[in-house]
Amino acid sequence: MSKLSQPHLLGIKNITGEDIELIFETADNFKEVINRPIKKVPSLRDVTIANVFFENSTRTRLSFELAQKRLSADVINFSASTSSVKKGETLLDTVNNILAMKVDMIVMRHSSVGAPHFLAKNIRANIINAGDGTHEHPTQALLDTYSIREKLKTVKGKKVAIIGDILHSRVALSNIFALKKLGAEVLVCGPPTLLPKYIAQLGVKVEWDLHKALAWCDVANVLRIQLERQQIKYFPSLREYSIYYGITKKILDQLDKEIILMHPGPINRGVELSSDAADSHHSIILDQVENGVAVRMAVMYLLASAAN
Ligand code: NCD
Repeated sequence: MSKLSQPHLLGIKNITGEDIELIFETADNFKEVINRPIKKVPSLRDVTIANVFFENSTRTRLSFELAQKRLSADVINFSASTSSVKKGETLLDTVNNILAMKVDMIVMRHSSVGAPHFLAKNIRANIINAGDGTHEHPTQALLDTYSIREKLKTVKGKKVAIIGDILHSRVALSNIFALKKLGAEVLVCGPPTLLPKYIAQLGVKVEWDLHKALAWCDVANVLRIQLERQQIKYFPSLREYSIYYGITKKILDQLDKEIILMHPGPINRGVELSSDAADSHHSIILDQVENGVAVRMAVMYLLASAAN
């Protein structure tokens, strides 16, 4: 099989384990390409891609844009804060105007859950979800699982703990779907107020005690407290959170095994991770960023070829 089962990447929930493997194999080739002296290939020449960001982003937007440039695509960038959205234009009108300029693919980040799904139903272009509210962030989960596969040779059978603000995190949900589809065991850990009630129904273990979670896992994927999405107080203070759930190098060194430390960024140093943990030999945080470019190249290449 050399095609994805979907013309869009809206979430990990609606793609298959074979799709993920195909993306990984394609990303292996692109990773080799971006480590060459000449990093650019003509694969998406004549394909025009719009990056439409209604929410802040550093890594994801830069990573998509770099991936597009490495593939020789034509790229336009749209940021809601400087656009006519501020004048009251609807999402559909905004996107139809972009499409009238003959755009083939849209990478969108939006604060509303389901916004990319709505676009996929209403317009003719390949849609990639770069994060929809608290719902999914599929390319982040793909680069996370790709990085685990690279470090541990396989994802199957590995024990992955996702630690932190599970309730407000789109990274957590997409990672759970991806890890389960690839045969990993998944545990979520955090204060009970930040673990959604339905979470066990997704086939994951639930643990409130950070030390037990770390003793169990091969990989700890640590998430930021999403304060911007929290309407009420879920825990007394960030200081108290970091006492119970902050990971330090000392905690990692005291484990009787080596575990891998991951974080999607942006890190709040001193809250979920101490600086000495984030910068320790346990951490593959910058490998995740590097792999993000190759994985996004693979996704866009495969979606563009599925359209032809
Ligand atoms: C994440 C996001 O935006 O969902 N970051 C990212 O894409 N690398 C996680 C976060 O903001 O904490």
